[in-house]
Order: sequence, then structure tokens, then C-alpha cells
Amino acid sequence: MAPIYIDEAVGSDTTGNGTIEAPYQSLGVALFNHPTTTTPASFLIRKDAAGTYEEPTQSSLKKAKKTADGLEKKKKKAEELAEREAKEKGDEKERREKVLVESRKIVLEEDGTLPKPTKIGYLESLRSKRVRVFGWVHRLRQQKDIIFIVVRDGTGYLQTVLSGRVAQTYEALTLTLESSVEVVGTLQTVPEGKTAPGGHELVVDYWRVVGPAPGAEDAFTNRLNEKSDPSIQADLRHLVLRGETASSVLRLRAALLIAFRDSLTAQSLIEVTPPCLVQTQVEGGATLFKLDYYGQPAFLTQSSQLYLETCLPSLGDVFCVQESFRAENSHTRRHLSEYTHLEAELAFITFTDLMDHIEEIICNTVSILLANPTSASLIKSLNPNFITPSRPFLRLSYVDAIKWLNAHGIKHPKEDAEGNHEVGDDIAEAAERQMTDIIGTPVFLYGFPAELKAFYMKKMPQGEGETTVFTESCDLLMPNVGEIVGGSMRIADMEELLAAYKREGIDPEPYYWFTDQRKYGTCEHGGYGLGVERFLAWLANRYTVRECSLYPRWPGRATP
Ligand code: 4AD
Repeated sequence: MAPIYIDEAVGSDTTGNGTIEAPYQSLGVALFNHPTTTTPASFLIRKDAAGTYEEPTQSSLKKAKKTADGLEKKKKKAEELAEREAKEKGDEKERREKVLVESRKIVLEEDGTLPKPTKIGYLESLRSKRVRVFGWVHRLRQQKDIIFIVVRDGTGYLQTVLSGRVAQTYEALTLTLESSVEVVGTLQTVPEGKTAPGGHELVVDYWRVVGPAPGAEDAFTNRLNEKSDPSIQADLRHLVLRGETASSVLRLRAALLIAFRDSLTAQSLIEVTPPCLVQTQVEGGATLFKLDYYGQPAFLTQSSQLYLETCLPSLGDVFCVQESFRAENSHTRRHLSEYTHLEAELAFITFTDLMDHIEEIICNTVSILLANPTSASLIKSLNPNFITPSRPFLRLSYVDAIKWLNAHGIKHPKEDAEGNHEVGDDIAEAAERQMTDIIGTPVFLYGFPAELKAFYMKKMPQGEGETTVFTESCDLLMPNVGEIVGGSMRIADMEELLAAYKREGIDPEPYYWFTDQRKYGTCEHGGYGLGVERFLAWLANRYTVRECSLYPRWPGRATP
């Protein structure tokens, strides 16, 4: 029989097999692996690569035998343990299967006196009464004989407790997150020292699954969790919306729209609904989504401003909350391809009146939200450090802003002149954001050069020796977000408007209805547009406007 080789220097007890090509490292392991060979002559051992292989001594063989016995014992123990565990697992599986079979025999009876369903948000006045609630399993904790389910129905969260028979049904034992359920029971104040949403919990006496959600592979938490990649989160936006943060943002958005409408209505503005399908541009051809409209060119609206202007002689001051579309290839955290645009237009006002009005609407809207306990608590949970902006807002002319940027060393992206800003330069998004963050409060930037702004803006009288023409325009900038409002006074004079079309290379023909406003009783007027998602990002301290839209659209993304 071939001897078994051991090389104490370079052999291996894990990969070796005792051949001369693959020797073991220790005699103990060699003995353990070959328990029937016990004579010294069966082994050849060497201490290092330079030495020669020799038979081990009797005493080293004796020592190695002890090691081999120890290893043998260990192996036996491990085998026993594995066997026991397998049996326990099998027992557990068997036990669970038995329990599940038994559980099918437990059928809960719905009694005829059950109350009508109530929404979770309205439960407070029903403490100690029996109530019935429908919702989704938001959280689930299964203990030995008791199951805690947090049910969500959109109006709130309700902790429910299942014990005894109601916790032993097949549905109870196989319940999964995001299943829809009906729960009935007595609403009890939570015991002192314990907390639950609303301060109460439902002690369930009857319940059922309305629509089960899958478990295992396809379980909700396997499809989506906090670590999911942003592109997966975007694809699964419909499931993201079930989360607490996303739904809080949307709830606050709903409250915000109501508050805006209340503020605007209180200022006697009337809401109108202008069209989305249009044949005129407002903010330049570069960001138009073009489409074929029964063989004619048409666009998705960029702004409803021109339509609002036509309402002034009919309805007086007006506003709208309408989707606007921008085909710009911007992937920034404040750009969407479709956004909710709150726009207003006011007649017989001055430029100062316009800025005062914007400030009033914003501050009043915030006050309404903070005065309402529901929206106030949403703001508090999403943006604990929110500070109500103080009035009046800082007003900084474009020319002073250029000086401010240079004084603070904030560079223009152009390559010449050491990156200093000059009058006539567009203030880039990054510079604008840096400025707002340093100032730390809302800022009106006003009086932009005409060449940077849209064709319809009213010009300021040109100062002596001034070469740049400035406009009665304003942007409202907010910390963390940047521009949230863009507004201006409009050209009221028809000839001036016709000249503006010409300068911008716009064919006046499709704008006949807009020009008519100047023809039939013109007036000084102005208005603004506010990006609802940007405002919400500021209010709720969201990193991106994408979190502030139900189903956000950005370049390349129109799903779900
Ligand atoms: O400054 P903008 O382009 O102004 C107008 O459209 C005017 N016609 C509005 C008017 O005077 N009636 O847009 C107004 C606001 C911006 O301040 C910004 O808040 C938002 O609309 N906005 C966008 N929000 C998200 N994504 C985009 N791509 C946006 N573009 C503008």
C-alpha cells in the first residue's frame, strides 16, 4: 500500500489527500482521514521542504492518535446535531401543516349587528364602541398567540389586536403585508405607557381578508424596500405611494392646493380651466412638446398665461391650476417634463402690487396650512425645521444680484474674465441656488434684461446712458429649491407687442386673440406662475420635485 505523505511546511489538511503531490499538513488529520492505518510504516512525514520524508516516531503517532480521536468525536457531534435539527425542522413543518389544517376548521361568523364601516381618520369619537374598518395591512407582527396588524386606509393608521380564535384562522396564520382586510371590534384607548396611532387600538372580534397579497418570492418587501435602486423605485412608483413618506407628501400636496385656492379666492380671483392643447408658445420654442393635431401643428401648453390674460376683461382677476409641459432635457432635481402650474393674472396693477400680491398669497397659504392641525402635523413630520418666512421678502434687483454674486465670489460658468458675472449674463441655476442658500430666506430677484426674458414682458423705462433694457419681471427664489415663481408685468400696448413678436421672430397670426386684448380696451396687468412641485419641495423639505408629483415625468420617463 502506498504511504500517506505529511508535509508540515506546505501540506494542507483541507485540500490535501495524502499523496506525494498533495500531502497533509498534520499527522493527526492524516490519521483521522485514514483510521484503519495505524503503523508508523504507513506514514511518511517531513518538517520542511528541504528535509526528507521519514516514518513518524511511536510517540508522535500516539499524540496524533489523540488528535484524531478528538476530531472523530467532533464529527460525530456535528452529525448528531444536524440530524436533530433536520428532525426539528421536519417536526416544525409537520406541526405547522397540522396547525394550518386545524385552522381551516375555525370559521369566524359575522354577526348581524355589525356597525357600518368607518374611516380610520374619524374613529376618535367612537372610543369604546364596536367599529368596522376596511384597509390594507401596513405592518404585521405575529407573536405566539397574538397578532398585531396596523391597518391603513388612506385617512390614517389603526393598530388592531387579534387574539384567541380570531388569531387562529387560516387567514390569520398566512396573512401577508399589503393584503386588504376588513376588521371589526371594540375600539379601546391604549393602556397608559403604550402608544398607537390615534391613541387607540381595535380589539378584533371578527375579521377577514378581502384581497390577499403574495408572500415568499413575490412578497411586497421583496419587490420594494428602502434599499431599492432609484430606477426600480421609479418603475414601482405605484407601490412607493403606499409608504408613509410618499403618501404624506401627497396628502400635504392636496392640502396645499386647497389652501392656495382659498388664498386666491379670498383676494377675489376666479378659477378658470384653460386648455392643454394649444397652438401658441409662451416661453420659447425650445421647450415645446409638438404634436399632430388633426393634421395641424399643435403643442402641449407651456403656460396658461396668455389665456388668463384674455379672461381679465370678462371675469376680472383669474387663476388656474393646470399642468404645464416643458420639453427641456433637464435632469436636475427641480425640473419635470410635466408639472402643476399655478398661474394668476391681475388687471390694473403696478409691478410693486404684483410682488406684494405674490408675497401675500404665499404667506397666507402657509398660514392656512399651519392653522389646520392635519396639514400642520404633516409639515412638522416631513420638515421639522420649517420656519414660516417673515415679511416683507427681500427684493434684490438683477443688477444688484450681479454685484452680490461677484462680491461673494460666485462664478459664472463662462470661461473668460475670471468667471465674474456681468450685466446681461443669465444667472445659472447653480449660482442662483448658492445665492439663495447663503441668504437663507425668500428673495425676489427683479428687473431682468429683456434679452433674457420672454417676448411679452413689459420694459422698464431706460435710464440715462443705460444700454441694457430691463423688464418688470421677477423670480421668487426659495432656500434649497431656487426659483419657485416667475412673474412679470405684460406689454399693454399693441404696437409694442407687435414689435416684440417681430424681434423674437414670432408669427403674429396665431396670436390674433392675444393681440386683441390690446386692441379692445387694454390695461396695465401682470401675473405669475408658481411651480406647485417646487413649492411643495420647499415646504416639505424634499430633495427633488420628483417626490412631489404623483407620477413624475422627466426626460425618458413616462411610466407608470
Ligand atoms: O418662469 P416660468 O417659465 O414662467 C412662465 O411660464 C410664465 N408664463 C408664468 C406666468 O407668468 N403666468 O415658469 C413659472 C414657474 C417657475 O418659477 C417654476 O416654479 C415652474 O414654473 N417651472 C417648473 N417646475 C418644474 N419643472 C419645470 N421644468 C419647470 N419650469 C418652470
